[in-house]
Amino acid sequence: MSRYAEPKVIAFASDKGGVGKSAAAVNMSAALATSHGRTLLVDLDHQADATRWVGFEGESLALAEVLVDSGDLSGAVVPTEVPGLDLIPSSGEWLSRAKRELAGKKGSELIFRGAFQRLLEQNPGTWQWIVLDTHPDVTGVLTLNALVAARDIICPVDSAEQALDGLVSVVKTMWSLQKTANPHLGIRAAMLAMKQRTRLARSIETELKSKFEDRALPSIRHRVHIAESYSERKPVMLAYPDCDSVEDYEAATAALVATYSSVGSGAVKDERKRAAG
Ligand SMILES: Nc1ncnc2c1ncn2[C@@H]1O[C@H](COP(=O)(O)OP(=O)(O)O)[C@@H](O)[C@H]1O
Ligand SMILES: [Mg+2]
Repeated sequence: MSRYAEPKVIAFASDKGGVGKSAAAVNMSAALATSHGRTLLVDLDHQADATRWVGFEGESLALAEVLVDSGDLSGAVVPTEVPGLDLIPSSGEWLSRAKRELAGKKGSELIFRGAFQRLLEQNPGTWQWIVLDTHPDVTGVLTLNALVAARDIICPVDSAEQALDGLVSVVKTMWSLQKTANPHLGIRAAMLAMKQRTRLARSIETELKSKFEDRALPSIRHRVHIAESYSERKPVMLAYPDCDSVEDYEAATAALVATYSSVGSGAVKDERKRAAG
């Protein structure tokens, strides 16, 4: 058995795009790195929003090579401007090609996990937190690779009508992976990642609290400077350190960390009941 505590491996997943998933993955990774231990952010979305958000400019083929040619991840890790936060960048166009090549191939959802486990073995004890950002397509091969490698899922939702619908496909995919490649996968938490000042947003927040209890993380308020921090290519804590979004992401991150120390800290057990509501 390793002398080092295993890192927590958390995938941000939703079947719906534009709900604040990459924003939460990036800004909570920054908060984890700053206050809770060294963190590795892996961008498994070919749209590469998380990669851009933390300021990575170059081209990195590593993830695509890993998926198509069983390449190695060790050279793929780059530092970011946030102390303690490392990144495995998305390879953008190359990753979309990999996605097309792998689609429908048997066992293709298992490839990333093998390379990822080798990376952790080569760097024992380096990271306490690993955050995987995913494409809003939970049955797509890239997201399946993330969900096979992860232990925990965080489900961000927005403040729109039917906001919780994106959760249903995440839960279905999770059940299917629990029976096959990843028996320990579970939903760690859900959160309103873009809370508007509307009655609907408040009712979604209440619904999340009733379904997820202490696994409903504090909401992130809708703030224009969050989108602006993307244009600055910096997490909000570096772009606008005095804005209240920094506190929002810190509070959500602290609540996430607390789920690992609370009694019965396994991922949400009765998702079937919770999803059915
Ligand atoms: N809390 C928020 N307030 C305002 N804008 C946000 C917030 N969270 C995310 N955004 C913006 O909304 C858009 C979609 O967010 P993003 O995180 O990219 O969604 P996803 O990864 O789910 O597709 C982006 O322009 C992002 O900057
Ligand atoms: Mg995204």
